Amino acid sequence: MKETISIQNVSKRFGQKMVLQDINFRVEEGKINGFIGPSGAGKTTLVKMIVGMDVPSSGSIHVLDHTMPNLNILEEIGYMAQSDALYTELTGMENLKFFASLYKLNKAERHERIQYAAGLVNLTEDLTKKVGAYSGGMKRRLSLAIALIQDPKILLLDEPTVGIDPELRFSIWNELERMKNEERKTIIVTTHVMDEAERCDYIAMIRDGALIAWGTPKELKERYHASSFDEVFLNAGRENQ
Ligand SMILES: Nc1ncnc2c1ncn2[C@@H]1O[C@H](COP(=O)(O)OP(=O)(O)O)[C@@H](O)[C@H]1O
Ligand SMILES: [Mg+2]
Repeated sequence: MKETISIQNVSKRFGQKMVLQDINFRVEEGKINGFIGPSGAGKTTLVKMIVGMDVPSSGSIHVLDHTMPNLNILEEIGYMAQSDALYTELTGMENLKFFASLYKLNKAERHERIQYAAGLVNLTEDLTKKVGAYSGGMKRRLSLAIALIQDPKILLLDEPTVGIDPELRFSIWNELERMKNEERKTIIVTTHVMDEAERCDYIAMIRDGALIAWGTPKELKERYHASSFDEVFLNAGRENQ
């Protein structure tokens, strides 16, 4: 098993406020990892530090054997932020072309990646519309397509399925599974939807900035004598009080 991300003793404070406390977590290639916890738990802060957009107050993060932040491996990291960062005056296609142009792709590769990413999120028919006219769910889908555009080894998706209907949510999860199996991608997904936990290989449950439980879905349910992840979360939280 190849380790692709390691988070060692990471804490983060904003001013006086401790937002993450002594997080330790290792991630392997070819696995889907879920960071699960309620709003305000610290999931986005942790993801941003893995991407290299923010720095830990203490501790260290390594991605593909590089200490983060590191500009040299940006090409290997696909990041879908929680809030969409899109050019609303441009069309979907123009957005995809712009983001594709940031990477070392030749013209044929660029065309192929754009078609693949747009098709995956079911936006092929809407690419000529201005993004300003997109619904919330369409913007999420375009953001996901952009995160995939350079075919990165690592995918960090911050609440990727918010506002996306169940059918497309299902097909996105199927595609994440295909990417981990066939392309050995490392995938981290944050969610506060407990039923998405079931489809992750490993789960890290985060509450109030602390990692309160981690393991495979099966291990967690057994350890906490729980039949659902809501229950795992509640029982793990009680133990940590
Ligand atoms: N730039 C910032 N400055 C101050 N506080 C922040 C900042 N970013 C996040 N926080 C705080 O950190 C905590 C965790 O936020 P966040 O990582 O966004 O949680 P989650 O993604 O799990 O909802 C929250 O209390 C939030 O208000
Ligand atoms: Mg968040």
